[in-house]
Amino acid sequence: MKKTIIALDGHSSCGKSTTAKQVAKKLGYAFIDTGAMYRTVSLYFHDNHVSLTNPKEIEKALSEIHITFHFNEHRGASDVYLNGLNVEEEIRKMYISQMVSEVSAITIVRKAMVAQQQKMVKHRGVVMDGRDIGTKVFPDAEIKVFMTAEPTIRAARRQQELLSKGEMVDLDIILENLKKRDIIDSTREEGPLSQAEDAVLMDTSFMTIDEQVDFVIQLHDSVLARL
Ligand code: DC
Repeated sequence: MKKTIIALDGHSSCGKSTTAKQVAKKLGYAFIDTGAMYRTVSLYFHDNHVSLTNPKEIEKALSEIHITFHFNEHRGASDVYLNGLNVEEEIRKMYISQMVSEVSAITIVRKAMVAQQQKMVKHRGVVMDGRDIGTKVFPDAEIKVFMTAEPTIRAARRQQELLSKGEMVDLDIILENLKKRDIIDSTREEGPLSQAEDAVLMDTSFMTIDEQVDFVIQLHDSVLARL
């Protein structure tokens, strides 16, 4: 059977990764969370006091960062590793969310990550979620979905997610962070967040996860039938 690349792009916290993970599971596809890669780079920069305005330091740091994904049976999804260390939990924390958009707006960081993402896909049968997958990483993806949702709804979902991991963060702080990230992500020079011309819009404000997954699967099936 023919396989495809599914690109799920969109705003922060509108359910991209959750949807991508379940779609991948249903189709037997691999799932790559590209946001996790930018978060991992941010963690390294944070821990090693890398100056975000010093290209030499950034370049050196990038050469020292080795990002891998390994399947976690318990979670039923892949965890991200930084130089052999599982950082899946750490990168989801609020202090990383607060710096990741600035880190991911740096052109040399983006170039390094995009090259790695393209290399990771050896053959089709992949769901990749991010901001620039349908526009930059895989402009030839057969299925492109651009996801969005109302900011207050996204903030509430994010708060629940952080709470489930034991981190209590004020809703206003989360909302402010999401809006700031949307602006930085959409206005940067390299690979800005934007809806690809051939992407289908999905507003998840009033959709359940099951509905989101069904939406993508139906789109996939209809595209596949025409290939
Ligand atoms: O999907 P996420 O919230 O985990 O992504 C974290 C940040 O990484 C997000 O604010 C923007 C950036 N990002 C990006 O610039 N390009 C991608 N392909 C994925 C994420």
